[in-house]
This record gives sequence, C-alpha cells and structure tokens, in this order.
Amino acid sequence: MDRIVVSGGAELHGEVTVSGSKNSTLALMAAALLPEDETVLHNVPKLRDVDTMLEILRALGAKADWRDSRTICIDASTVNNPEAPYDLVRQMRASFLVLGPLMARFGTARVSEPGGCAIGVRPIDQHLKGLEALGAKIQHDHGYVEAATSELRGGRVAFDMNTVNGTQNVMMAATQARGETLIENAAREPEVVELAEVLLAMGADIDGAGTDRIRIRGVGPLHGIDHAVSGDRIEAGTMLAAAIATRGDVMVRGVDPLQLESTLEKLREVGCQIEVGIDCVRAKMEGPIAPVRAVTAPFPGYPTDMQAQLMAVLTLASGSSVVTERVFENRFMHVPELQRMGADIALSGRSAHIRGVPGLMGAPVMATDLRASAGLIIAALAAEGDTVVNRVYHIDRGYERIEAKLRGLGADIRREN
Ligand code: EPU
Repeated sequence: MDRIVVSGGAELHGEVTVSGSKNSTLALMAAALLPEDETVLHNVPKLRDVDTMLEILRALGAKADWRDSRTICIDASTVNNPEAPYDLVRQMRASFLVLGPLMARFGTARVSEPGGCAIGVRPIDQHLKGLEALGAKIQHDHGYVEAATSELRGGRVAFDMNTVNGTQNVMMAATQARGETLIENAAREPEVVELAEVLLAMGADIDGAGTDRIRIRGVGPLHGIDHAVSGDRIEAGTMLAAAIATRGDVMVRGVDPLQLESTLEKLREVGCQIEVGIDCVRAKMEGPIAPVRAVTAPFPGYPTDMQAQLMAVLTLASGSSVVTERVFENRFMHVPELQRMGADIALSGRSAHIRGVPGLMGAPVMATDLRASAGLIIAALAAEGDTVVNRVYHIDRGYERIEAKLRGLGADIRREN
C-alpha cells in the first residue's frame, strides 16, 4: 500500500494547472448512458473514481474506456443490463448516479444501495423521492434499490435539502420523461450547471440550472457529444490553501474563479492576497494567518469539500477560529490526526474550535477520506520534520498525481510503496 512522505517547511512557489473536475466527470459519465450513441469527454482526471465509474458503465454493457490519458469514450448503444452491482457501487457512492439515466433509458433499474461512508450516513431518500415523483415504483430488495415504471412522466420534485447528486439524478431521468418536471430546492453547484450544459448539448430541454428551480421538459432520444470537463474547483482551492499554509506564492491555472468565490473570500479573510484572472487564481501569503469563522453550506456557501484544508491552515493562525460543518454530520475525521501533529482543536457538536499554534510537527498520520487527506497533506507541508500519510488510496480517488504537482511547486514530498 502506498504512503506519502512529506518533509515540511518549504514555501510553495510557482504555477500549477488543475485537472478536470472529479465530481463533474462522474456525473457526465452517468449522463453518457442516456444517448444510444458515443459520448467523448476530454480533460478527464486520471483518478481511481473515474476508473470505478468506467467499470460500472462496462458492467451495464457500455463500451467505455480511456482513449488517451485525458479522454474517455463511452458508447452506450450497447447497454443491455440495467443493474449496478454492490461490489462496484460500494467503492464509490457516485455510482448511484446511474439510477436516473437507467430509468430514463429502460424504465427499470437495479442499483445497489451505496451504504454509509466515512463522512456520514448519506441517505439516498431524496434521489428516490425524486424518481417516485416521476412515476417510478421503488422497492428495496436484499440491499438493492429496484425502480421500475411503465412510463416516466414529468412531475414536481421539492427536495427537503440541498442534494447535488440527487438533483443530478432527477435531472437526467426527467430529460426522457413525458411532460415537464420542476425541481424545487435544487442544488446550485457548478457540477449541476455543467451537467445541464452537457444535457442541453445532447438535445435536452432544461432551464434554471444554477438556480434553485430547474425546469426540464422531456424530449425524444438524446445524442452523443464531445465535451471538455471544467477544471476542478476543489483541487484549485486545495492548492491555494497549501500556498497559504506554507506562506508561499502560487498561481493556480485551469479553474473558473467564479466557482471559487466563497473559498477565495475566506482565504482573503485569513490574510492572503488573492488575484484572479479569467481562468486562474494567484495566492500570495505574507505575515500571520488571521483566525476566522467558517460555516460549510451548499453552493454558493463555503464548500464542505474545502473544510479540512481550511482547518489545516487555521491550526497555524494567530488566534482562535471556529469551523462549523453543516453539510455532513461526521466530517471531522482529520481532527485527531491534526492533533497528533500538534494542532489544538476541540470538537463540540458540529463545530471545531481551533486555537492556532506557532508550528506543527511532522508525525505518522492516517488518511480517512479524500478531503481529510488533503487537509493532512497541507498540514504536513507546513509542519517541521517528516509526516508519513498512510492510506493514500483515499487521496488517489480525487487528486491526480498530487505529490508531483506539489513537488513542482517546491514541496519535498514523495510517494513510497
Ligand atoms: N442527503 C440526504 N438524502 C439524500 C441525499 C443527500 O439526507 O437523498 C444529505 C447527505 O447525507 C448530506 C447532504 O444531504 O448530509 C448533502 O449531500 P449531497 O447529496 O449534496 O452530496 P452528494 O451529492 O452525495 C456531492 C459530492 C461530494 C460533496 C457533496 C456536497 C459527488 C460525486 N460528490 O455528494 O463530494 O461533498 O456533493 O457538496 O459529486 C468529495 O468530492 O470529496 C465529495 C464528498
């Protein structure tokens, strides 16, 4: 099993280009099931989660593979088995995104229930409620969700909470339903907007993506498209946070700064100079890190996927910060690991009270989930001495060659087997 070893202390300087967005890619791969045609996605990040989704698409009968190191081709004309098996779905919750497209194509689907995960219980009730509103009959059978309908028909779906993948699942199913669907309390995340753009290009009829009311009018068969995935806003934010923790000066390229507004606002509050261009952001950090209060929230709020990275920065602030996690109920697994590095953090319910310390110390730590691992790497870059991050398969799910990218910025970081 791989581990990452970081010798902390180097200031990060230079330029780095982010890969394509993991979470957009996964939703777009599911959308590729909708047309009986070939879909080509460019700027795809080379990640374990993408490979898992390719395997799922193949299990469904699609021809799905890498064409080159950045491009995947998905030919869904051969899909003939609307069942996503437990062994694949349990590896990655986003697999559940195939449910909506399968219902749209076949009127029937059998998808393993994803189960809980390290950051929370993560129910799927909203996905199912949405599909039921479109006429699907749902049954639970030995750990599988079975959905079936003689015909999907448009309906009104009012989500009880902001759900990104739930909104995406219903949006995809509704493209092929008879009549109009209205999603209320829809997620506004950029990944929902990008999916809507791709569905539109495939021939769907959607408006309102990016607001909390999305209207979808069912249309006839969709067609395949070519699309370049947008840059990963969370990878970008992670690199900026690493620059701040090490008091560096880093230009991150390949990302739309408009997708990062709440993150950039918080990074400015900690005292960082931020400059934005059309598709780049520069973070330059001099002087002390200011303590802040941050509360995670659905887009356009501060992203839960940037919570651990911000916390790593705040462990070194000159004062006390409070970070409150409102999206997931158990996303503080990085806290005990940061404490092992000398951080002073007290948890109380959904809030972490962080008293800044003058420095962190390298230590062996364990990655527990994807973004927690990113937080640990940031802490390690700023710490004195060596940190060994174990279980790095978590980080490989969502960051492409993170050690190479950080090395390019001057970090002393290597992967060991
Ligand atoms: N929820 C329910 N019922 C549902 C759906 C969601 O109770 O049917 C709850 C969840 O348990 C959670 C909240 O609603 O407490 C928000 O969950 P959401 O459905 O928005 O999360 P998701 O769509 O499963 C995506 C990203 C996550 C990201 C969240 C929030 C993908 C593949 N995953 O998950 O990304 O944290 O939105 O922005 O798009 C990551 O990349 O590390 C990651 C976890």
